[in-house]
Amino acid sequence: MSSDLETKIATLKSELKAINSEYAKIKEIPAEKRAEFGKQINEKKQAILAQIAEAEAAALETEVEPLDITAPCGLNGNMPELLHATDGSQHPLMTELDRVIAIYQSMGFDIVESRQLDDEYHMFDSLNFTKGHPARDGYDTFRTEEGFIPPAHTSTMQHRVLKAYKHKLDEGEVIAVAVPGRVYRNEDVDATHEHTFYQCEGVYVSKTCTLGNMLGILREFFEKYYGQKLNIKTQPGYFPFTEPSLEFLIEKPKALGGKGGDWLEMLGCGMIHPNVLKMAGIDPTKYQGFAWGGGIDRLAMLRHGLGDVRHFESAKLDFLKEFSC
Ligand code: DAH
Repeated sequence: MSSDLETKIATLKSELKAINSEYAKIKEIPAEKRAEFGKQINEKKQAILAQIAEAEAAALETEVEPLDITAPCGLNGNMPELLHATDGSQHPLMTELDRVIAIYQSMGFDIVESRQLDDEYHMFDSLNFTKGHPARDGYDTFRTEEGFIPPAHTSTMQHRVLKAYKHKLDEGEVIAVAVPGRVYRNEDVDATHEHTFYQCEGVYVSKTCTLGNMLGILREFFEKYYGQKLNIKTQPGYFPFTEPSLEFLIEKPKALGGKGGDWLEMLGCGMIHPNVLKMAGIDPTKYQGFAWGGGIDRLAMLRHGLGDVRHFESAKLDFLKEFSC
């Protein structure tokens, strides 16, 4: 951008700031003159906004010098100095995700990453949410104008996983897949609720598996993750894609600040509904499965004794540096 244009835009923006502060004066103006006063400021503001838009459009059109990527780096070359790799560190959530993935892999699970944009079919229909079912409301969060959905949970991947791994069943093996991914919810954000977070889904199908096997797998996972024996329990839940549906809880361990009897809900789970298997081309009279899904942020908060989930998406360096090594 030329420096003339740059100066022009900066001047217009400071004029805009001055006009915005005029609004505060409206209280001091006699009531009968307020409308006229307001109208005048609005007109001035619109005129300046139009000039800013015009100048910015012109700036975009000015030719950009191509960057010579073969030139030497640093202040003496024409390439901007990049941050040295050792100045950064992995985001704590990615470290947790790596741990989670490593545990599932050690237990024989394949890993499939979920998507950050999905569609109505995978979000609802393939998960046995019938049209107009009230359970849709809890998950019906964001949509793009084109009708795509930033998924509210990693369960959107169940149908794809079942279809892609169905051949394993035909070959006499089992389906065992974990699906980590980023999910989005229309939440009232507070210390324990974020609009954007990570989940990991688990899907297991075989001829003979039972709810008891699922609880064994979940216990094993959580005990490996927290590096200690845990007390676990379940309580009834409801998800259209499982029957029966459960919530899985662990008792907050003493080593992590638990006082005994603090039960924490870690995930939702259950036996995969026959309709979900059927839609993926798996015969529910021959095979059965279980699935579960829960938040990674929540796991990590307990492990690190964090009181506020919002830190993770805040990009606050002070917070992130606590985790750099
Ligand atoms: N997707 C659910 C949620 O985020 C959690 C869940 C419940 C996942 C039951 C499952 C399941 O796979 O079987 O609220």
